[in-house]
Amino acid sequence: MQILLLNGPNLNMLGKREPDVYGSRTLADIERTLSTAAQAKDVQLVCVQSNSEHVLIDKIHASAADVNGIIINPAAFTHTSVALRDALLSVNIPFIEVHLSNVHKREAFRHHSYFSDIAIGTIVGLGANGYEYALDALIKQLQHS
Ligand code: DQA
Repeated sequence: MQILLLNGPNLNMLGKREPDVYGSRTLADIERTLSTAAQAKDVQLVCVQSNSEHVLIDKIHASAADVNGIIINPAAFTHTSVALRDALLSVNIPFIEVHLSNVHKREAFRHHSYFSDIAIGTIVGLGANGYEYALDALIKQLQHS
């Protein structure tokens, strides 16, 4: 089984970026923890972060043949990107949406997501642990489908 972990803009700055909001763990640390957890379950995890919408879209298109599920934190694109939403719809790969912060407690413009209504589920506000919960849930979901 192969799972793609996609992280959007500014998430390469985790650890330095607003640590009171996003925590102190770096993206490399999160990816390492998740890859180890995936390996233990015989799952191959491919990790991609980009600040650019087209790189994320191209990666989703290229995943159509061999990726079984996606964990995505679209970051600021959550609230703006019809193009990224359409890319996920175009490949029909089941996905879970993750946000480190509780976007519903924050500014009004963060309350709307272009992804939540087409995701299997969403995990918000649980920090970096949210990615681990998403991996566990996605693997269980894929094993039972
Ligand atoms: C975020 C929330 C978004 O509103 C924000 O633009 C981010 C990170 C989160 O993980 O909490 O970049 O997706």
